[in-house]
Amino acid sequence: MSDLKENWLDLRSDTVTRPSAAMRAAMNAADVGDDVYGDDPTVNRLQEYAADLFGYEAALFAPSGTQSNLVALLAHCGRGDEYLVGQEAHTYKYEGGGAAVLGSIQPQPIANQADGSLALADIAAYIKPDDIHFARTKLLALENTIGGRVLPLDYLQRATSLAHERGLATHMDGARICNAAVKLGVSPRAAVAGFDSVSVCLSKGLGAPVGSILCGSRPLIKEATRWRKMLGGGMRQAGMIAAGGLYALEHNIARLAEDHDNAAYFAGELSKLKGIQVSAPQTNIFYVDIPADACRGLNDVLQLTRIRVSMSPRLRIVTHMDASRDDIDRAITVFGDFFG
Ligand SMILES: Cc1ncc(COP(=O)(O)O)c(C=O)c1O
Repeated sequence: MSDLKENWLDLRSDTVTRPSAAMRAAMNAADVGDDVYGDDPTVNRLQEYAADLFGYEAALFAPSGTQSNLVALLAHCGRGDEYLVGQEAHTYKYEGGGAAVLGSIQPQPIANQADGSLALADIAAYIKPDDIHFARTKLLALENTIGGRVLPLDYLQRATSLAHERGLATHMDGARICNAAVKLGVSPRAAVAGFDSVSVCLSKGLGAPVGSILCGSRPLIKEATRWRKMLGGGMRQAGMIAAGGLYALEHNIARLAEDHDNAAYFAGELSKLKGIQVSAPQTNIFYVDIPADACRGLNDVLQLTRIRVSMSPRLRIVTHMDASRDDIDRAITVFGDFFG
């Protein structure tokens, strides 16, 4: 293991997790074939397993969440179409404008409410009439969890029903949908009910090194497969990495509860300190507001004590399987000494 692994506590994101020994063994043992021909048995197993787990006809393995979301948007929408999306959503704000750049698909951003949702009245109001002046509104894209917040199931049911009644399709960026399912105590399938497609990241809290999976109907996945090839995401002996994703889905969902417990414990301890504001985590992500004049000093201390958090614009702390309760206790001591 590298120095970095041994010495640093990295709480910037759950994307930093590394494959466990058991996951590496599964990857090492994977049967492989040429997946562009559909011949990789491990990729096929992962896709079938994910489709069944999330309750869809078919699934597609993609190299990243960005590409999985993008091929979904490209499969749902055509040139001159538009998708409704949160102002804070990854598919709008953090994916390089890919749908617009590569698909001529216009995003219609909508302000997120404090709980991360999009108000149903806003969704209804932003659906444009069939008029030559307007882009054609084709898709509602929601994200769950969003900034660590879990969207309630009854809200999702109402939002997807509204979209379907108005003739829109629905896509969920479920990069962390398993965190939402575990928090809600429901099956992954129940957590995505009503969505025509969902993109799930295997390389975040689930601990696989690479990859995301897009689930949907057979025709949608066929279309998405064409776009994935065009984007250069057709991988050959991808079973080596798909095996990590399959292992993640089979073994690492329930344990996300530990990450949630660690986040709640960490936030609870930090909220006892004076002069900082801590958001109560719902899952594995929480935010801390610190006085502007404390930023540089805290940054120096974190560097010295080998702790990484995201510092801009607010402190963001993400718990994951490579951060144990002992690690969290060490971080609490560092914060306590600094703010105490
Ligand atoms: C909510 C959400 N969606 C999608 C992605 C994109 O995943 P990737 O980094 O694999 O492209 C991320 C990555 O952090 C994310 O947080």
